[in-house]
Amino acid sequence: MKNNSLDLNQKDFAHLLDQSAKLVLDQFERLNDAKAYHYHEQEEVASWFNEVLPQEGMDTEALLEEVREKVMNTATGNLGPHMYAYVMAGGTQVSIVAEQLAATINQNVTKWHLAPALSEIEKRVIHWGAEMMGLEDLTGGVLVSGGSAANLTGLTVARNIAFEQMGIRKKGLFGVPPFTVYASKEVHGCVDKSLDLLGIGTDQLRKIKTLLDFTIDLRALEEQIITDKANGFHPFCIIGNAGTVNTGAIDDLDALADLAQKYGLWFHIDGAYGGLAASLSSLQAKYKGLERADSIAIDFHKWLYQPFEAGCTLVKNWDTLRRTYFKKADYLDTALEEGMGRLEFNEHTFQLSRNAKALKVWMSVKAYGIRRIKEMIQKDIDLAHYLANEVIEAPDFELKARSDLAVTCFRYTGAYTTEAEIIDINSRLIAALEKDGRVFITGTKLNDDFVLRACLINHRKQKDSIDYLLNVIRETAKTLQYEPQDTY
Ligand SMILES: Cc1ncc(COP(=O)(O)O)c(C=O)c1O
Repeated sequence: MKNNSLDLNQKDFAHLLDQSAKLVLDQFERLNDAKAYHYHEQEEVASWFNEVLPQEGMDTEALLEEVREKVMNTATGNLGPHMYAYVMAGGTQVSIVAEQLAATINQNVTKWHLAPALSEIEKRVIHWGAEMMGLEDLTGGVLVSGGSAANLTGLTVARNIAFEQMGIRKKGLFGVPPFTVYASKEVHGCVDKSLDLLGIGTDQLRKIKTLLDFTIDLRALEEQIITDKANGFHPFCIIGNAGTVNTGAIDDLDALADLAQKYGLWFHIDGAYGGLAASLSSLQAKYKGLERADSIAIDFHKWLYQPFEAGCTLVKNWDTLRRTYFKKADYLDTALEEGMGRLEFNEHTFQLSRNAKALKVWMSVKAYGIRRIKEMIQKDIDLAHYLANEVIEAPDFELKARSDLAVTCFRYTGAYTTEAEIIDINSRLIAALEKDGRVFITGTKLNDDFVLRACLINHRKQKDSIDYLLNVIRETAKTLQYEPQDTY
């Protein structure tokens, strides 16, 4: 240790950095062969960390060794090509470096003068996010933890602006009819959570039925708005999906924008999963209407391949964010801002202290370039189509849903012939595959039917990763026996 601080001397610190770099390189050494999941019972994992509060420090080399063994070597394989569960992007090498650099300077991107360069970088990254999707009018925004926070932020702005327009911020909610919100039944659960937190209440979220392709049924939506108005509710927001989590379905955003305009509603889009795919020329037509949103949630830790966390809310102008979040506080006033062009992020979001999420995004975009990143997004989509086609061709699989994006839903059928057998084997496959660990895939329900769901969002996947996935599922399924369920 150096002086009276927690620091090492430069030589020992350099050694520590070298050792940690070896841990990083080691992950990349084993990328293709590493297991996607390391199965251990919960009690076992808890036992590794069942330790008393350390009073004295330990040797850092021994500490790194412990981290290697217990954390790095057991980590779920988001990095590698065999992860298909949920929406897990693989990160970029440049981001790994960026995270370390950001932690080194430990900037608090809250007041401009606390982080001048990173405040401007965050503004630039927000602008680039909008530009990627071809949005010129969405000029304001803020980086948040992820898609859930980005949706919550967009809906908070929607609510506060509506409250402002109705004078509720002064008069209170006395005598005000319940606000209603509209989205397809495929909308992400974070919207339910947001409406709960915002005091709008989940009962007021109208989950509209979908068409066969899992996009919102526009006729049912309009009927619901009309019924609600007639029944004394106050419709105030439509949420469009720019890529649902279940199947990647993209609602007819232009038609939703028309309805929002017709009934004077806020138009929010959940583009957490699919928003950034609007940058692809192959999908331009599908995203028509995106540009008409009042707010959009996007996620850089999805299709910009960033490590967690990096979500983003985009809004038409900064002013709506400020009107939503600004609170005067003497300890934050510096009398410096006027006329200096400094954007204070703490006045445009809920958090005061904020880390520098934008550095990894900015460095990745500069290092790889958007053209290359778009190629990777397109590759994910092409591979998802390849998977869908392989499933169709295979005698022992059946396709349940394909999408314009990179989600494929399917079932293993093997030699089974009855629905009961197929449902039983597929629902037990997830646990069996978790134990096996070679690939990591989870399931979902489509119209109440359980299906395997593969989400491809990793630039390290190739065609042979897909062949491997199907083979591992086959092999694992063959180890299972049909177990008839008791019917009484
Ligand atoms: C469509 C959609 N919305 C919101 C979210 C939530 O995003 P996060 O997990 O970053 O909070 C997800 C996550 O997969 C998603 O797919």
